[in-house]
Amino acid sequence: MALLRIPEENRTIVNRDAIAARLAEAGIQYEMWTPEHPTSKDAPQEQILAAYSSEIERLKQSGGYVTADVINVNSQTPNLDAMLAKFSREHWHDEDEVRFIIAGRGIFHIHPKDSPVLAIEVEAGDLIRVPRGTLHWFDLCSDRQIRAIRLFQDMSGWTPHYTDSGVDARFQPVCFSDQP
Ligand SMILES: [Fe+2]
Repeated sequence: MALLRIPEENRTIVNRDAIAARLAEAGIQYEMWTPEHPTSKDAPQEQILAAYSSEIERLKQSGGYVTADVINVNSQTPNLDAMLAKFSREHWHDEDEVRFIIAGRGIFHIHPKDSPVLAIEVEAGDLIRVPRGTLHWFDLCSDRQIRAIRLFQDMSGWTPHYTDSGVDARFQPVCFSDQP
């Protein structure tokens, strides 16, 4: 289950409904898909997409998404550090960033225009939708792995636009579960 931190307010929110409500204020959709559909962690993409086909269909209709795939990032991923360095700088996209986590963990920082930065830690069962134009960045947790369903309106719109604001450097990309 997800966990939401607001570092500038020194607040942590653990209640699922409270997390969803606080994220919704910033325009971010968060939900848990329950019950989870049993798929093995290394199931082929087609099997995962089939298991979650009804949820994917619902999202496609509500958000105009046309394709779905499964992204797999782990210590065996070639050029992992270079890839993670692209995710972890503040950026936005011309289309929504939609992720349903199958396995692993990660932390999205969301930077709303008029409110404090939100750090949302996600794990299996969590769905997050970051609307187009929203400033954000992403880091893995210490286990450095994540597997997630992605949905796209138009894959060409997913190119990151970097702000180079330096805001990301003010926040520790440390997952709650990794803290001593
Ligand atoms: Fe992104």
